Amino acid sequence: MRNIAILASGNGTNAENIIKYFSNRNTAKVSLVLSNKRHAQVLKRAEAHDIRTVFFEYKEFYNTGKVLRYLSLYKIDFIVLAGFLWLVPESIIEQYPGRIINIHPALLPSYGGKGMYGEAVHKAVIESHDKESGITIHYVNKLYDKGDIIFQSRVKIDPSDTLVLLAEKVHALEYIHYPEVIEDLVVKLPDMLIKSPEEA
Ligand code: GAR
Repeated sequence: MRNIAILASGNGTNAENIIKYFSNRNTAKVSLVLSNKRHAQVLKRAEAHDIRTVFFEYKEFYNTGKVLRYLSLYKIDFIVLAGFLWLVPESIIEQYPGRIINIHPALLPSYGGKGMYGEAVHKAVIESHDKESGITIHYVNKLYDKGDIIFQSRVKIDPSDTLVLLAEKVHALEYIHYPEVIEDLVVKLPDMLIKSPEEA
């Protein structure tokens, strides 16, 4: 049984969907939910499922080992970003090589990069009059939305689609595919030696 940690900044519907999916699987479970927003809805959703939550500030994330210590304490094997706004520091990427993934609500490499988050992405897609959008699940590296792509799925955009409708279509794809892609990856993980930040 692998331990998954979720990093999220906002509403957390994907996080909750992943929590529910793994609540009756024997492959992995969500053991920790971390957020950079103290009052993020995602923390309330996780608590409602009795999952340990952690809030961290900017300085703690980039200048201390706080997050790595929690990842070590909860024996986290795999990290899932689900609507997380900040770049993951190199210290965490180095500790979790090939074990951190993100979901992006568009077809990368289009509509990615700094500031391209949630509604901003859908707005850009609608304004470009694209005929399709979709989701991209990719490995996380030190650049925004640039890690190797693992999975994409597409959805047609109707001319009458508003930003809200497109967001709903994309969220629906996320709910179907993200947990399954996570599970495909975690079952293939070799055991990892989890070091404390002091040892790393
Ligand atoms: C999701 O659509 C996710 O793809 C997106 O944020 C949303 C979070 O929704 N992520 C990004 O835009 C990352 N650049 P949720 O909080 O309801 O899961």
